[in-house]
Amino acid sequence: MGDLDEGAEGPALYRYVASELDKMHLAFLDVMHWGNEELLTDLRKLWHQTLILNRPGRPREQIGADVAADIADIESYGSMTLANPDFARRVQTHSPFNEADRATFYGGSARGYTDYPAMT
Ligand SMILES: Cc1cc2nc3c(=O)[nH]c(=O)nc-3n(C[C@H](O)[C@H](O)[C@H](O)COP(=O)(O)O)c2cc1C
Repeated sequence: MGDLDEGAEGPALYRYVASELDKMHLAFLDVMHWGNEELLTDLRKLWHQTLILNRPGRPREQIGADVAADIADIESYGSMTLANPDFARRVQTHSPFNEADRATFYGGSARGYTDYPAMT
């Protein structure tokens, strides 16, 4: 979500869709966020159920920051959890992460999905 290549009316459309979906009392809204912070703040107000937030490429130091600041109820992680089967334990123990290998994303075989090592 953002206004990178979605046109000038993109943010207004997201605000409208969020407020209309809110009336349906769905369980959650999962936002893939690309940087329009003002829009994100507005969605947080327009949407009254659980907000899940994904910030692509979020740096490690920012893990937990959006929940702590009440910008989201839940933060979601893609590639970091893919590459680190023990992601939560690594965060809790300040341990290094495995780097995700982009070459194995989106199909092919099980390689890159089931073979990243956990900490010993
Ligand atoms: C291998 C792979 C598969 C993904 N599959 C989906 C998917 O099925 N549906 C979806 O909404 N996002 C999917 N994503 C996108 C992630 O949910 C996330 O938005 C993206 O990876 C950026 O966040 P990250 O920096 O935490 O990885 C996928 C990402 C990866 C790396």
